Amino acid sequence: MTKILQLETSVFGENGASSRLSRTLIEKLAQIYGDVEIIRRALASEPLPHFSAEVITALNTPAEQRSEEQARLTQLADDLIAELFAADILVVAAPMYNFGIPSTLKAWVDYVARAGVTFRYTENGAEGLVTGKTLYLVTTRGGIHKGLKTDGAVPFLQTYFEFLGFTDIRTLYAEGLNMSGREEQFAIALADIERLIAA
Ligand SMILES: Cc1cc2nc3c(=O)[nH]c(=O)nc-3n(C[C@H](O)[C@H](O)[C@H](O)COP(=O)(O)O)c2cc1C
Repeated sequence: MTKILQLETSVFGENGASSRLSRTLIEKLAQIYGDVEIIRRALASEPLPHFSAEVITALNTPAEQRSEEQARLTQLADDLIAELFAADILVVAAPMYNFGIPSTLKAWVDYVARAGVTFRYTENGAEGLVTGKTLYLVTTRGGIHKGLKTDGAVPFLQTYFEFLGFTDIRTLYAEGLNMSGREEQFAIALADIERLIAA
């Protein structure tokens, strides 16, 4: 069975452009792989609490000494990481909000980067420990930002996931979605899904 973890982050929920594109992508992956299990984290409607000193303290407290709240926080952090390790394919829907990623996705990013678990420091520098997976980044934006310094989303996410150990990263851009010709742009992105899967 192929396990797919989807992070849905649009404030518009399943109606968001990034959600619709990533759901179509997953439908196509399901047709190819047949037997799939899909785990969806709807981070906009069920946001994670901001990563904080409380979380770090909780993680650094021995399990038997944790308060109820600390146990709840560490469980959440552990569950997010376990979901990632269990997945064969990760699909991240990342609309551009104010030149970057949604804050709900940033919270997930902060929970999942954990030294000694998802990455580690060696004599030769940092080493990612989340290996052997495929990542599909689905990014939507109102304007045009690909390859420009205004794109604070894709370079950041690619750097982050490479740091965690991902090498197979496939990025789908849907740009100009708030400009004239938006339907055409969305259709181009939809058509691009096939190319991305075949790559
Ligand atoms: C709060 C907010 C901030 C946005 N900031 C930007 C931006 O900085 N640059 C841009 O090109 N589009 C921006 N947009 C437009 C979205 O990127 C665009 O509508 C995209 O399709 C949204 O994807 P979604 O429907 O999956 O949420 C913004 C939209 C919202 C709601």
